Amino acid sequence: MDASNGSQDTEQTLDSQVKAFFDSAPPLQNRNDITQKLNHFIQLNSLSSENGIGKRIVCVTSGGTTAPLEQRCVRYVDNFSSGHRGATSTEYFLKAGYAVIFLYRRGSFQPFCRSLPDDPLLECFEATEGLNIQGLWFLLHPLLMLQIISKPMKDIGPRAMFYLAAAVSDFYVPWKDMVEHKIQSGSHILDVKLVPVPKMLSVLRKDWAPLAFCISFKLETDSNILLNKARGALEKYNMHAVVANELSTRKEQVVVVTIDDKITVQRDKSKADDDVENPLIKLLSQRHSAYIEDSKRMR
Ligand code: PMT
Repeated sequence: MDASNGSQDTEQTLDSQVKAFFDSAPPLQNRNDITQKLNHFIQLNSLSSENGIGKRIVCVTSGGTTAPLEQRCVRYVDNFSSGHRGATSTEYFLKAGYAVIFLYRRGSFQPFCRSLPDDPLLECFEATEGLNIQGLWFLLHPLLMLQIISKPMKDIGPRAMFYLAAAVSDFYVPWKDMVEHKIQSGSHILDVKLVPVPKMLSVLRKDWAPLAFCISFKLETDSNILLNKARGALEKYNMHAVVANELSTRKEQVVVVTIDDKITVQRDKSKADDDVENPLIKLLSQRHSAYIEDSKRMR
């Protein structure tokens, strides 16, 4: 069999899975408003320059997604993620001089008010000169929003970073297969068919924003398989780095896996209020700067 045909087939399958996933999602009512807000935010932050170069802009995804079981949703499959990682990282990205697009699950942690999960602080902000955070929330799935965000991010090339800390559900019920009304209780077995959500990481790297610096996450509960899984994801999805974390120690330590390194990053335990995101974002910011410089040399 011709190997190139094999990879073309795989690409076509992924493209059709992605199309089926987006076609099956309920329509996003305010798509035009979101696009306008994003364009404005990215434009403002590209003009506000240090040394004549536009700011670096990072899109942080945060919190867990849900998979509804009914169109008029009463029940859904949920995910444990609290959004703490995304909210904390956003604070350190801002400190490092980035402008941040914070894509979060409504009700999850938000930057600067981590002890108040329901605080709608970000919803009070309007994009004006000098504002370097844009909050956008997702209801069910962040992937459609990620696609919308990647369009204007593509235009800023290597200055863009994607930091994908959200825990995205691997399965969903397509809209057309979902019952409209609340599933009735009874003695019968509930048989719901969940289909796989296509991994968007390859599409992001290949089509949506090929020059952006991309960081994904790998979470496992078994530390024996964590680093191999992270390395596998790095290669499979062509990421610039994968942050490997284990469920029970995720707030203390992570390992940043790149093509030629495995760097353990730890919270400074001598300081009660230090976060593992502090050294993590410092490291990623340095790597991103080096990536931007390399990209200039290759032009
Ligand atoms: O929110 P906290 O409580 O603070 O917890 C933080 C965290 C543990 C959730 C976070 O640090 C983390 O590890 N997030 C990713 C967890 C995960 O479930 O990974 P995954 O194996 O499902 O996905 C790996 C990567 O692929 C992720 O970057 C995800 O954004 C991406 N993905 C996943 C599914 C999908 N269909 N498309 C994707 O692009």
